[in-house]
Amino acid sequence: MRKKRPATKRRPAKSAGPTRSMLAAMAALAREARERAHAPYSRFKVGAALKTRTGEIVTGCNIENASYGLSMCAERVAVFKAVSEGLDDFDVIAVVADSKRIPPPCGPCRQILWEYCGDVLVHMTDLKGRSRTMRLAELLPMPFDGGHL
Ligand code: THU
Repeated sequence: MRKKRPATKRRPAKSAGPTRSMLAAMAALAREARERAHAPYSRFKVGAALKTRTGEIVTGCNIENASYGLSMCAERVAVFKAVSEGLDDFDVIAVVADSKRIPPPCGPCRQILWEYCGDVLVHMTDLKGRSRTMRLAELLPMPFDGGHL
């Protein structure tokens, strides 16, 4: 009688997404960018690092203004820098802040990210190294976009 072959272990399909070490490297760059934040009014410094699928990384930090409403979030600074340099096809954004709870991008930043980056991975970290990674579609369900116009 033929020997029964041992059941082959089913390995999960290799994900094409960023590795843990890539996410950590991006968080480190976002942390460096955070040091350059201009946040004398809120004293809440934020850093971001946005990556294209081909590996270019653009950072941003929040930049506040005495006319508070003109202040700009770190995520949007990174997105606008990248888009203005002609980059596209983004896959991950890392965000870092010194927050009691892991800091997610604010609502307007989610909308901007959706427009220019689509359903990117959002890697959120604090200075203690705690992190959470979610897809933008989870953070912004039912987004409004050009498809509605
Ligand atoms: N901020 C960001 O840079 N990103 C966010 O997603 C939330 C808020 C900035 C804006 C402001 O300079 C400071 O954090 C406090 O709200």
